[in-house]
Amino acid sequence: LNNGLARTPQMGWNSWNFFACNINETVIKETADALVSSGLADLGYIHVNIDDCWSNLLRDSKGQLVPHPETFPSGIKLLADYVHSKGLKLGIYSDAGVFTCQVRPGSLFHEKDDADIFASWGVDYLKYDNCFNLGIKPIERYPPMRDALNATGRSIFYSLCEWGVDDPALWAKEVGNSWRTTDDINDTWASMTAIADLNNKWASYAGPGGWNDPDMLEVGNGGMTYEEYRGHFSIWALMKAPLLIGCDVRNMTAETFEILSNKEVIAVNQDPLGVQGRKIQANGEDDCQQVWSGPLTGDRMVVALWNRCSKPATITASWDMIGLESTVSVSVRDLWQHKDITDNASVSFEAQVEAHDCHMYILTPQAVVSRSDV
Ligand code: DGJ
Repeated sequence: LNNGLARTPQMGWNSWNFFACNINETVIKETADALVSSGLADLGYIHVNIDDCWSNLLRDSKGQLVPHPETFPSGIKLLADYVHSKGLKLGIYSDAGVFTCQVRPGSLFHEKDDADIFASWGVDYLKYDNCFNLGIKPIERYPPMRDALNATGRSIFYSLCEWGVDDPALWAKEVGNSWRTTDDINDTWASMTAIADLNNKWASYAGPGGWNDPDMLEVGNGGMTYEEYRGHFSIWALMKAPLLIGCDVRNMTAETFEILSNKEVIAVNQDPLGVQGRKIQANGEDDCQQVWSGPLTGDRMVVALWNRCSKPATITASWDMIGLESTVSVSVRDLWQHKDITDNASVSFEAQVEAHDCHMYILTPQAVVSRSDV
């Protein structure tokens, strides 16, 4: 969507994956505090997004949305002020249907009122869900909220959560700043890998202003191993997915923090070229030895060697498959070891990757020394 936002994929936190409906204003404030004190905010995680269940069960007598009086007694405006005072942005949630998925009031047919009230509260981001949609086509339900947000005059990031039902990649570029390509992720290896594959299909439709959204991160929620979470984060970064943390950042382990704070991987996600990397090779049993790759600024390439097999494997990336000229020689940097592996790889390189682990590299072409320089 051409509203000046999402030049790179959004980064931040969302309440749903860890808290579901157990949210309140204290959790949101403490999360904002933790994003700042941990250093994650400085790395780019600036959106603090409240998901479903923030609102009261009914609109008020004037038909307006109201925050739940027990869990958000101070109201959203004061919460937004607090989040802004920390240098962060506040996100809220509604639904392009008559109810949200947890049966709070939806915004269908209330787009103008709701966009206006969000803007008056100082909201910076709207996630817009797809439950109770009366069977009306998404292309009729999502644009009215875009127009209502735009009419407020406030800059509000618009995140479509249509779950990939009607192939939003094909039409949402003009509607939202990101669009979900799949059903909900859950905190398992099977879910995460399946979602990566589904999102991969739409790679060519992503770019500055509008991104494919394979759903929020599960890193730190406990259902996958360190290696699996490292793959999850690597592949989401490479796919230019939104990096929305889904764990309790007030209580992160050192391992969780190490993954989420990897600057070199974040820089791949935020590279201004904005091209979604994709799966370019799958070998072995069940295609489990995978190479994912994409271009970055400065003629560099990102390459992930993702071993989805249950045994260690040696995975090879060749210039041919990555799309590098066969004669070029490159330096290879390992983004998880934070080390330059070699400064003159040619034709291909390979690595031994543990089961369910993922290596990630940046390949930088070497300046060609021309004869006249010698
Ligand atoms: C479905 C969405 O896909 C989830 O991300 C979450 O927002 C829930 N609804 C909330 O009810």
